[in-house]
Amino acid sequence: MCGIVGILGTEPVAGRLVEALKRLEYRGYDSAGVATVENGSLDRRRAEGKLHNLEERLASEPLTGRLGIGHTRWATHGAPTETNAHPHMTDRVSVVHNGIIENFKELRAELLAQGVTLSTDTDTELIVHLVTRELEQGHDPAVAVQHTLRRLEGAFAVAFIFRNYDDLMIAAREGSPLAIGFGDGEMYLGSDAIALAPFTDTICYLEDGDWAVLTRNGLAIRDRNGQPVERPVQKSVASALLVDKGNHRHFMAKEIHEQPEVVAHTLANYIDFAESRVLLPDMPIDLASVDRISISACGTAYYAGLVAKYWFERLARVPVEIDVASEFRYREIPLQPGSLALFISQSGETADTLAAMRYCQSQDQRIASIVNVRESSIARESDAVLPTLAGPEIGVASTKAFTCQLAVLACLAVAMARARGKIDGQKEAELVSALTEVPRHMSAILRDEAIYDSLSHTLSKAKDVLYLGRGINYPVALEGALKLKEISYIHAEGYAAGELKHGPIALIDETVPVVVVAPQDEMFEKVVSNVQEVAARGGQVVFISDGSQSAAGCDVMTAIQLPQTHPFTTPLIYALPMQLIAYHTAVFMGTDVDQPRNLAKSVTVE
Ligand code: G6P
Repeated sequence: MCGIVGILGTEPVAGRLVEALKRLEYRGYDSAGVATVENGSLDRRRAEGKLHNLEERLASEPLTGRLGIGHTRWATHGAPTETNAHPHMTDRVSVVHNGIIENFKELRAELLAQGVTLSTDTDTELIVHLVTRELEQGHDPAVAVQHTLRRLEGAFAVAFIFRNYDDLMIAAREGSPLAIGFGDGEMYLGSDAIALAPFTDTICYLEDGDWAVLTRNGLAIRDRNGQPVERPVQKSVASALLVDKGNHRHFMAKEIHEQPEVVAHTLANYIDFAESRVLLPDMPIDLASVDRISISACGTAYYAGLVAKYWFERLARVPVEIDVASEFRYREIPLQPGSLALFISQSGETADTLAAMRYCQSQDQRIASIVNVRESSIARESDAVLPTLAGPEIGVASTKAFTCQLAVLACLAVAMARARGKIDGQKEAELVSALTEVPRHMSAILRDEAIYDSLSHTLSKAKDVLYLGRGINYPVALEGALKLKEISYIHAEGYAAGELKHGPIALIDETVPVVVVAPQDEMFEKVVSNVQEVAARGGQVVFISDGSQSAAGCDVMTAIQLPQTHPFTTPLIYALPMQLIAYHTAVFMGTDVDQPRNLAKSVTVE
């Protein structure tokens, strides 16, 4: 996750770009840079390390252009060196970019074959060359950018400035946020409203697929089909990060929509995209020697652990013991000294998880934790910490922290499988490529929420809702049921679909919606036969699948079609419809979505 800013100013902008970048430092700070257009010429300054290095560079070699872009980087492709720092540029165009270009290997090969000389290891440099090629063919900047955007796959945000254009900036958003700010004869853009707070409180947010042409006196936005669109202009309350809901009505909605970006950011912390392999930070734990794992967590984090059990056992062939922390801590489990004990927690402060961890410490376990809050007690007391880079999660019902936990666990499972010789480099590359596609698929799901809105009208009338899933998506069904009951207060239960006939089928009649998580994986046929058992008893099926509705083989009340994904990554993808169903139902019912009754975000008591 990187930070982007841009200013079309009436005065030199370099100083203000740096000021805005300081407010984005939470998004990345391994290198930074600014580029401006002055008398038609592009020029840039970049520096490795923290922003004060860039400030020093600008003090000795000032830039005086009144139009510029800036970037604070968090490296994905290529080391955090000055050469790899943004802005990237040719003699015609300069760009700043946040996110991951998935098809960068193909684009790189294509450009190299055309004789383009590349000077960095970044995916971003490819974007400037693609635009430059379009400009060389005689297209104007807007057309050049539009053609280039069509070539890019992934979740990203970009901003461009051009040689000989002193009053033009073009920006685009596909999965990573971009806010546009309106000033007095000036225009601004930034990764969030916080960056723009010193300059303006009048902003609008681009939506996925939008690209915008900014001049000092105007803004023209087009959607992915090239149609002109208007996006609501609003007053931002960006004075404090924690009160900014962006374009959303609730923190939960904002956090659901942040997932393409924060999952990409988290994956980038554990994946070397150029080499298609998982690269964990240095850990004092030898993964090759791990022959047993115990996992403990609470709530949503526990369900992330339950998914991971399937990954660790299947891929790395390591047996996993998992329990909710409130049980684990008192079970007096016999543990083999030197085994790996893994704790998952958004807050890092959950009392039961912390107590389970301390029990494991007393049993000479090697302690690893997956936490979102780096300074938390669980993080501090662990031998190894694998952070989720979800950013602050405010909504009590966990959403983005969950998918980021899954992202880290998936990477850990792949690394362990590789370390134990259970998968080869080719299989690792296949799994890494599947993970890399996740942010894009998430963006696609979040693009259209109408179906969840209409489904909410039916679900709001239900007294009970069942969620079914099998295999690796059984925990996703559990999480779906938890989300619904947490925020809508409708009674919901998740079941392993194969267990249906051992009890829950007795509940089914035409008043009971049954949400079925049914990716087309090896369990699909079995899930489908469970769906038919439900339909035969009048149950109202909500069929969530990458297969067509007809694949259900019976009448369903609602079919939600998801993008086709690798079976490995389906829990990350199918988590989103679970969240959206719960969110829209709760909104329709008028409950307090962000602070549901009786619940707490961080449970620091037993
Ligand atoms: C509370 C929250 C849940 C969360 C659980 C575990 O119940 O409401 O959203 O999943 O605690 O919290 P942790 O911070 O340990 O992940």
